[in-house]
Amino acid sequence: MSSPNADTPMASLSSGPLQGEPPLGRELTAKLLAISHEYCQAEGGCHGPDHTERVHNLALHIGRLMNARLDILSAAALLHDIGRSHEMLSQGKICHATKGAEMSRTILKGLEFSQEMQDAIIHCIEAHRYRNKKIPETLEAKILFDADKLDSIGAIGIGRAFLFAGQVGARLHNRGVDVKKTRSYSTEDTAYREFLVKLCKIKDKMLTPEGKRLAAERHEFMEVFFKRLDKEIHGSPRNNSDNSQ
Ligand SMILES: [Fe+2]
Ligand SMILES: [Fe+2]
Repeated sequence: MSSPNADTPMASLSSGPLQGEPPLGRELTAKLLAISHEYCQAEGGCHGPDHTERVHNLALHIGRLMNARLDILSAAALLHDIGRSHEMLSQGKICHATKGAEMSRTILKGLEFSQEMQDAIIHCIEAHRYRNKKIPETLEAKILFDADKLDSIGAIGIGRAFLFAGQVGARLHNRGVDVKKTRSYSTEDTAYREFLVKLCKIKDKMLTPEGKRLAAERHEFMEVFFKRLDKEIHGSPRNNSDNSQ
């Protein structure tokens, strides 16, 4: 990896996405943000740097309400998806949470994080994935899990689902197909399939009270959106009142 350039991340730190005094201090936060940007840049709008920044902000918001360790949360949120390109290139065979945790261990050691901090941060990263068997055990891991899931639902979640479908070359929408017979990373890996397979269940998986509250509200919006998508998909005014196909 080339040495991280802190200029761009520092700019976003002071002017927008990551506002206020960061829990790890500005210098260390900028370094982690630069590392995160470097690994996540290629992931575009779906798992790119803006996703990381939103998850960071959501995690700190919930963390403050629950008196969590914000320094642990901040580092874990910034690094949580750095293994993503490995999962994408392997078409899901490599788990990005496991890979990202492994990569983060090396990074955190290099930045001289204490062993206690490393272990706590690594646990959050390993356990943040929805489909993983690794269960979030600490307060910080539960908060990162919720923050990451919140960014996959609501209006942002819909946008990200379509971006992902575009990345894998999926169709816009196909309500006629049985999702049980479809595969991920195929042309049927649509945003609506993602809604049925994963997004509609997220509100019931949340682990913190604030996560549950925000998820309920975002879930409602998704339901309205996908119902509307069904109505508009054939482009015929007749279908606007026919949702039974
Ligand atoms: Fe992730
Ligand atoms: Fe994520």
